[in-house]
Amino acid sequence: MSLPSFQTCDATTMRRAMGRLTSGVAVVSTGTPDNFQGMTISSLTSISLEPSILMISLTEGSRTTDLVGESGKFGISILSSRQEAVARHFATRGGSRFESVDCEYGSLEVPLIRDALVQAECVVHSWHDVGDHRVFYGLVGDIRFRDGTGILFSSGKFGEFHDFGHDEMPWLF
Ligand SMILES: Cc1cc2nc3c(=O)[nH]c(=O)nc-3n(C[C@H](O)[C@H](O)[C@H](O)COP(=O)(O)O)c2cc1C
Repeated sequence: MSLPSFQTCDATTMRRAMGRLTSGVAVVSTGTPDNFQGMTISSLTSISLEPSILMISLTEGSRTTDLVGESGKFGISILSSRQEAVARHFATRGGSRFESVDCEYGSLEVPLIRDALVQAECVVHSWHDVGDHRVFYGLVGDIRFRDGTGILFSSGKFGEFHDFGHDEMPWLF
């Protein structure tokens, strides 16, 4: 199939446009006790239920990206609306990410943010490079969740979800 000449949109426009898509916010963490790394992400998607697989997309060249590939495992902490400071901390370049952060550890021994809405431990199933990001698929092992409200990110700002008060959509539950 031949396509007409096609020009991709520039990075700034892409970022501004897709920033309108409100997303949840998580911290991906990985490494070993002598070198834990992590970063704030919104590119977290549930991909498969049997087996349980989720997907994350991490920028190439980041310390976390390289270490997920090397260690073959990562933790996911979906942040609550009370954890804006954590989201900002893990999105700020440089410095030690875990020194001042309260974490818990499961069987894979990756740091999981205490009081996060969801804590999941994953083993890398596969990955591939797409543009300037590396997309990882993770098999989900231990996963814990609590009641609460997730933090949201939209057009560069953090906030909270407010429902319309209608009935729940049954297919999710
Ligand atoms: C709300 C939010 C969502 C983000 N989502 C992603 C993401 O999905 N993938 C990514 O590579 N970076 C994402 N970032 C940017 C990284 O958190 C940021 O560049 C971080 O500093 C990268 O870690 P590093 O400094 O160790 O490379 C996001 C930032 C914010 C504030």
